[in-house]
Amino acid sequence: MYVYDEFDRTFLQERVDEFRDQVRRRLSGELNEEEFKPLRLMNGVYLQLHAYMLRIAIPYGTLSADQMRALAHVARRYDRNYGHFTTRQNIQFNWIKLEELPDAMADLARAGLHGLQTSGNCIRNTTTDPWAAATPEEIEDPRLYAEIIRQWSTLHPEFTYLPRKFKIAITAAKHDRAAIRVHDIGLRLHQRDGETGFEVIVGGGLGRTPFVGKTIREFLPRHHLLSYLEAVLRTYNAGGRRDNIYKARIKIQVHEIGTEEFTRRVEEEWAQIKDGALTLDDAAIDAIRAHFKEPDFEALTDEPEVLVAAKADSAFARWFGNSVAPHKVPGHAIVTISLKPVGGPPGDATAEQMDAIADLADRFAYGEIRVAHEQNLTLPHVRQKDLPELWRALDKLGLATPNVGLISDIIACPGLDYCSLANARSIPLAQDLTKRFADHERAADIGRVHLNISGCINACGHHHVGHIGILGVEKKDEEFYQITLGGKANHKARLGELIGPAVPESEVVDVVERILDAYVELRQSPSETFIAAVQRLGIEPFKERAYAAR
Ligand code: HEM
Ligand code: SF4
Repeated sequence: MYVYDEFDRTFLQERVDEFRDQVRRRLSGELNEEEFKPLRLMNGVYLQLHAYMLRIAIPYGTLSADQMRALAHVARRYDRNYGHFTTRQNIQFNWIKLEELPDAMADLARAGLHGLQTSGNCIRNTTTDPWAAATPEEIEDPRLYAEIIRQWSTLHPEFTYLPRKFKIAITAAKHDRAAIRVHDIGLRLHQRDGETGFEVIVGGGLGRTPFVGKTIREFLPRHHLLSYLEAVLRTYNAGGRRDNIYKARIKIQVHEIGTEEFTRRVEEEWAQIKDGALTLDDAAIDAIRAHFKEPDFEALTDEPEVLVAAKADSAFARWFGNSVAPHKVPGHAIVTISLKPVGGPPGDATAEQMDAIADLADRFAYGEIRVAHEQNLTLPHVRQKDLPELWRALDKLGLATPNVGLISDIIACPGLDYCSLANARSIPLAQDLTKRFADHERAADIGRVHLNISGCINACGHHHVGHIGILGVEKKDEEFYQITLGGKANHKARLGELIGPAVPESEVVDVVERILDAYVELRQSPSETFIAAVQRLGIEPFKERAYAAR
């Protein structure tokens, strides 16, 4: 894991002191809410429907066990005993009192955690693969580059007031687990002729005008990463629209001037700075690498006896098949911890669960935890021989639901329960859906389905890229939802297609069930996934069934 140095720690402490003074001035009335807003947004503090909300970054999704304990402490001491993991490797606390925010931030800063770059029109927390440095399918640890971007972008004088927020995601594996194609910039690490570099994708994003990003460079040698990012950001900063908040994202600029013209401007800018001070030589990359301490992996072999024996228990075998993935080091495994219990709000964890996960990480996973964009947690380095014991412990904590990647592994935004922009609720709908599909056997038969819910068109719940997307559209007497099918967030990202008129809240779960029943009937074989069937058949047969009973 990356270990913060003295410079980082001093910087965070100074930020807390500065914020403490800003809060004091707000509480005394010296600052009104409007004046306070840009200051709090520099520190991840939002104003929601009922209270201030604190969003804390988990850079590249990596947490130490002690950092997880610090989050648990904040949940317990300052909030209502839980935190909410988001789709961008952040955690949100929904109920912290303004007067206690500086203390909460000070406690977090001691653990190297903060809310910088989690709000405001700056370069946000760079996200990446939760399986980084653990999966056998990656070519290099993408977190090195996320950290390099963090150091370059934090307090970057040119890019602190961009036209709009700016999100970057990186992956270094064949399977994209970071949704890079729906980010302002997506970076895919790959190799060409023995050299490592990036495919650079620009202009992806969701919200009211969703776009899949466009590749503007197939291969950028890695030592040019920062100069090229600087050129893209300058092109956006100079030409992005500031006249209309809805048209201010880079995706609109790329769309309006066209990918070719955008690329031309970037390349022109880049030509001037390409070999300047931002060039990353091998020594600079190695210096960052030295901060990422690999665990001292034990020499073990795959499939130890205790694991083989445990698989005789069907409940363990089901969890193993669902939540455990191969690791690059023999005798180890990657474990996903589902934060989607039946009937629970997606992505929430209580202080007790966070503390317990920290203890389990220390016991079984070299003290490391990751946050995934699907709002689940990952233990990236678990010894296979410890899997049965880990499973028993997780099960006791309500954290072993074998539903990763299945219909009840729902991404949902906070919706009308918390958010002042919402049209409709997201969380209760997600809870109802998990109850309808609580039967693990049935869910496993339906197989891989990503269902994503947003409470309004801002699309925080990624509904456009859900295999099934649900969008809250209005709230007359009853909330209504639109349904889209066929979206994908991975390396073949595409946006879902609307199947027809919005349905009232009371019917959504039935409609989803009819769509899935149709899939089970229409699939060529159980190995044809839901998304593959939608792509083969188009939305028509599903649409027919969805509205048939109305
Ligand atoms: C309740 C507090 C929240 C508010 C007021 C809020 C507000 C917004 C707004 C206004 C946008 C659209 C911005 C734009 O496209 O320019 C947006 C986008 C987004 N938000 Fe939130 N959000 C909230 C919570 C969350 C949470 C909890 C998550 C994660 C679960 C989240 C993740 C996202 C993501 C991923 C986008 C994607 C759209 C994109 O960047 O293209 N937000 N949010
Ligand atoms: S999608 Fe809309 S309702 Fe949901 S959190 Fe974002 S802004 Fe709020």
